[in-house]
Amino acid sequence: GDVAVLVPAAGAGVRLGPGRPKALRLLAGEPLLVHAVRRLAAAASVHTIVVAAPAAEVAGVRELLAPVAPVIVVPGGAERQASVAAALAAVPAGPTIILVHDAARALTPPELVESVAAAVRDGRAAVIPVLPVVDTIKEVDADEVVLGTVDRAALRAVQTPQGFRRSVLTAAHAAAGDPLTDDAGLVEKQGVAVSCVPGSEYALKITRPFDLALAEHLLAADG
Ligand code: C5P
Repeated sequence: GDVAVLVPAAGAGVRLGPGRPKALRLLAGEPLLVHAVRRLAAAASVHTIVVAAPAAEVAGVRELLAPVAPVIVVPGGAERQASVAAALAAVPAGPTIILVHDAARALTPPELVESVAAAVRDGRAAVIPVLPVVDTIKEVDADEVVLGTVDRAALRAVQTPQGFRRSVLTAAHAAAGDPLTDDAGLVEKQGVAVSCVPGSEYALKITRPFDLALAEHLLAADG
């Protein structure tokens, strides 16, 4: 395998309601992070997985993942971007393709991991999985009064794993300023072209209680 996957899993998950850090919330009896890592490890190109865990949970996460797949676990940071940077610093020599994948996208199929990696291998510097936007999108002011309708045909909803030539992601993080919520955003700021590949409905980000309920149903239906 020529791929290392960084898994930022250090977030609190406030939008899911009170409880454990989000990556450790249970889905069908197992933490989201276990579901995510199991699917990453099932992708044939994946050589190394580095997880950024909540600082207080590093030892516990190591124990949790040991039976699932060989992983490197490091403490994450205060922002997602800092967690990704910490994981990136722990990647050994070897992998030439780096994927960044949110633990919260716990049901992402190994096929999507492979398709993003393949697009980078084909020569693209940066690759993101996307879905079309299905809802009509309005821009509003501070009083929730509509300013206008955005042309939905030109919009895409972005998922993970996001894939990068290793040198491109390393340079983007070295130059990073204000924290962004996605790594392709850092690469765009460097003037690097970011290409899209088709995403997967199963790669939904488990953010709110409804998403967790939906994910439970998907697992029950598909096994
Ligand atoms: O909060 P949000 O859903 O945007 O988080 C996306 C991903 O980034 C999650 O997997 C979360 O665990 C991770 N994260 C992190 N370190 C932080 C904040 C978020 O690794 N400080």
